[in-house]
Amino acid sequence: MGKIILTGDRPTGRLHVGHYAGSLKRRVELQNSGQFEKIFIMIADAQALTDNADNPDKVRQNIIEVALDYLSCGIDPKVSTIFIQSQVAELCELAFYYMNLVTVSRLQRNPTVKTEIKMRGFSDDVAEGDTTQKKGIPVGFFTYPISQAADITAFRATTVPVGEDQEPMIEQTREIVHKFNSVYGETLVEPQIMLPTNSACLRLPGTDGKAKMSKSLGNCIYLSDSAEDVKKKVMSMYTDPDHLKVSDPGKVEGNTVFTYLDAFSTDEHFAKYCPDYENLEAMKEHYRRGGLGDVKCKKLLIAVLEELLQPIRERRKHYEQHIEEVYDILRRGSDEARKAAAETLNDVRNAMRINYFEDKELIARQAAEYRKE
Ligand code: TRP
Repeated sequence: MGKIILTGDRPTGRLHVGHYAGSLKRRVELQNSGQFEKIFIMIADAQALTDNADNPDKVRQNIIEVALDYLSCGIDPKVSTIFIQSQVAELCELAFYYMNLVTVSRLQRNPTVKTEIKMRGFSDDVAEGDTTQKKGIPVGFFTYPISQAADITAFRATTVPVGEDQEPMIEQTREIVHKFNSVYGETLVEPQIMLPTNSACLRLPGTDGKAKMSKSLGNCIYLSDSAEDVKKKVMSMYTDPDHLKVSDPGKVEGNTVFTYLDAFSTDEHFAKYCPDYENLEAMKEHYRRGGLGDVKCKKLLIAVLEELLQPIRERRKHYEQHIEEVYDILRRGSDEARKAAAETLNDVRNAMRINYFEDKELIARQAAEYRKE
């Protein structure tokens, strides 16, 4: 059996360079490696709705944004299947059966769910008629790890390339697979997580140096940003607050410009844009020693990012002029995804022996028993 990839994103905003470093770049490489029998890339709108119930327009609008970002990064719809989660109803049915295999306390212990409950300001003790600002935890949100297990197993994914924050989700999926297979017989494929390799890519900080890029903090560099915006954002990037004069020694740890250079720059970039240094190590060495100003480092970063973003921007412009074509790609992808998921659902129903009408033996046996009576 060949290897199969499933991965995806919630359509809650345009994708940024953090997504690129953390996952998109890898996806394109994996796609072009020819090592995979099938690649499914899912726009997880149903999952996005689990904590955006009151904001359906945001989710709807961002489906096309995310699709444009995928295509402009080099996801090739002839090779990879891009689809929309909500258009594959089979996923709901799978999740419904998996729910019986997971306990409430196991979900409560899921570290990603825990953090997100805090981040979203959800609380589990909101009484009826509570007039405070407290929001209760939506059941759909609470159980989304189970729905994610359905996403992954429906496509018999062997490989799930995601960021480290998704580790608990894959772990929980594996548990569900074990449980299902031990109760109903070997049916589901156990998936493996595939983490980013470059450690600077694990989680790219925001331009303000905060741990994460997030739309609400306004600290993202988007794949669709203009050259002008990228330049402005880099020039105002957080560096070392104690590096006041050029002659001061500077810190590169926690210095966002260097974290981004770690993630994106190569030795060729130095040869091309900053030949004073052989590589990033040499530049860092000078910065630490003192005598190297932030502006020079930022200018290099702008050049590096432009080299990355310019072709992405061009391809995006093309697809923006062909929106109908993009929706056709999504429709065809969703049709194909539905077929694949239906096959797995069929196996699951057979294994669970809820395929009453196809189970000729069951019907014959019961008929014989009742006749005897
Ligand atoms: N939870 C993922 C995220 O927030 C999105 C997602 C949904 C996903 N279903 C998935 C990722 C299945 C990988 C596999 O980014």
